[in-house]
Amino acid sequence: MTRPHIRLGVNVLASGRHDAAWKTFDDKRHLSTDIDHFVQIATSAERGLFDAIFFADGPGGLVSEAHSRPWRALDPMVLVANLAAHTEHVGLVCTTTTLFGHPHTIARQIASVDHASGGRAAWNIITSQTAPALGAFGLSQGWDQQDRYLRAEEFVRIVTGFWDSLPDEAVVADTERSLYLDPARLRPLAFEGQHFSARGALSVPETPQGRPVIFQAGQSADSRAFGARYADALFTGQRVIEGAQAFYSEVKALALGYGRDPDHLLVMPGLFPILGATEEEARRRKRALDDGLDAAALRDELSHHLAVDPDRLADLDAPLPWAEIEANEDSVPIASRWHRNEMLKEARLNGWNIRDLMFSNITGGHRVYVGTPESFALDMVDWVDRRGADGFNLNIDVQPEGLDLIADQVIPVLQRLGRYRRGYEGRTLRDNLGLPRFVAGDAADLRAAV
Ligand SMILES: Cc1cc2nc3c(=O)[nH]c(=O)nc-3n(C[C@H](O)[C@H](O)[C@H](O)COP(=O)(O)O)c2cc1C
Repeated sequence: MTRPHIRLGVNVLASGRHDAAWKTFDDKRHLSTDIDHFVQIATSAERGLFDAIFFADGPGGLVSEAHSRPWRALDPMVLVANLAAHTEHVGLVCTTTTLFGHPHTIARQIASVDHASGGRAAWNIITSQTAPALGAFGLSQGWDQQDRYLRAEEFVRIVTGFWDSLPDEAVVADTERSLYLDPARLRPLAFEGQHFSARGALSVPETPQGRPVIFQAGQSADSRAFGARYADALFTGQRVIEGAQAFYSEVKALALGYGRDPDHLLVMPGLFPILGATEEEARRRKRALDDGLDAAALRDELSHHLAVDPDRLADLDAPLPWAEIEANEDSVPIASRWHRNEMLKEARLNGWNIRDLMFSNITGGHRVYVGTPESFALDMVDWVDRRGADGFNLNIDVQPEGLDLIADQVIPVLQRLGRYRRGYEGRTLRDNLGLPRFVAGDAADLRAAV
């Protein structure tokens, strides 16, 4: 049996995933808007032969995170369009919401990026509804869970319908007949939904990938069903292998149920490595970064996640107040529960005290790995071999130095193990991810049918 190559993305955050990373920079004030810095990160990812760089985003509005660290300031669509010009191979994943705005805008923008990048665009779907976003769009309340996913479904069907609406062969450019675009070859959309409707064809012709790649980020049962049906790759957040295996086997089975090849649905949990030449050096690097955190603010954040009074978390070396944590689960908003549950699963498994949990990336949510480049490579291989993941969306402690370290020291280990590419396989992101080119109207595409 051939053992699959590990897929890797970089979850780009200007200063890095560690909340105190920004304190290590000379120019601390412009990190979120410094385009040269993003170019450096993209170039480093490409040097490490990463599949993609990934721009998470909120649906709108200024987030409270901005009070304590550089936040996601620039529109990711503009960023990926810019980075397309500075890179050649790496995929460009842009996060946008299916709750706000109209699908036509996203269909046109992502298709344009696919052309501008020679087939490297991906759309990452999020379904979150934060208070800043509702405020920015002038709404006083959001949608319930069922409506969130109905909206998402209608949104994605319109976007993909638009992507299929102007096939390459419709551009005939026939000088004899003075016919540039043949209307008979269009596949216009006629979609009437409960939330969104759209008619006609997109102005952007079929893109180099046929359809740009679709990522989706979520965790709930509705999210898993939605992702298994419409996405090519899932960005997810398991922190323990058993949970990752359950998620993995469930979404692959769901994909099969939708008539899809499960290998064409990639599962990529987030993962946050902090590395050093020895394990002790890695721990020292983490401690040095952690020392830059505001412990009181972090304790408030933990108390919020756990729905436990901050006073109960005052002694950092005490055990976690498990009885209270369990009793208060129902008072945590549904949207935050996956994050809470994953943290708690890892804490329970490792017998963590309050301090251990508090300094385990509770703001970012993804599993932290502290160790050497070799042990980190083996950890990733282990998760893939045990069918908990197809690859990982890596969170980097400090950008770009943490990413350079991975490119220079982790990737060669994976290559020696025969588990990573030595050069990009193809021209498009689909080629590199091993995903087939989508053929519009293909009978296998049950995703189009409702
Ligand atoms: C790994 C992961 C990454 C996510 N990234 C984002 C993001 O960048 N921006 C955002 O607003 N929401 C993000 N979300 C939130 C999801 O889009 C979704 O709103 C959330 O998981 C709640 O929906 P669910 O309970 O149906 O999963 C992310 C969720 C997960 C699990």
